[in-house]
Amino acid sequence: MTFGFWLSKVGKPYNGILFNIHKLIALGTVIVTSVQVYKTLKVLEPQSLLIISIIAAVIGVVALFASGAFLSIGNLNYQTMKTIHTIALVLDGLALVAIVYLLNGKM
Ligand code: HEM
Repeated sequence: MTFGFWLSKVGKPYNGILFNIHKLIALGTVIVTSVQVYKTLKVLEPQSLLIISIIAAVIGVVALFASGAFLSIGNLNYQTMKTIHTIALVLDGLALVAIVYLLNGKM
């Protein structure tokens, strides 16, 4: 995330190193989080609220990657893509808080 703000501050044309670090950290975080959530779901009987939070998180991640890609290609409206990147970011933040809250004390 920090690299996202930095990337945003430096602006277009995006700094190559910052942009790639931003993408790699995003990808790494998603992979580590997915593995952990998958492991958790294998040992837990998930409640519906948890499933909903996980689905919201997945939608957020897909929207982040799609809007991020379009931001970098620049073929779609910049402001729209940036708004989607921000909304998806907030959605994922909320979903993560909900997941941690719902799993708290269950492990
Ligand atoms: C978990 C995934 C991700 C998170 C949490 C994340 C977070 C952020 C944040 C916090 C910002 C700065 C605030 C903003 O401009 O709205 C940002 C900007 C940006 N992100 Fe991401 N991002 C993610 C994935 C990606 C991916 C996969 C790409 C590219 C394929 C990408 C491309 C960009 C670009 C180009 C900007 C700069 C936008 C601008 O101000 O011109 N992001 N991201």
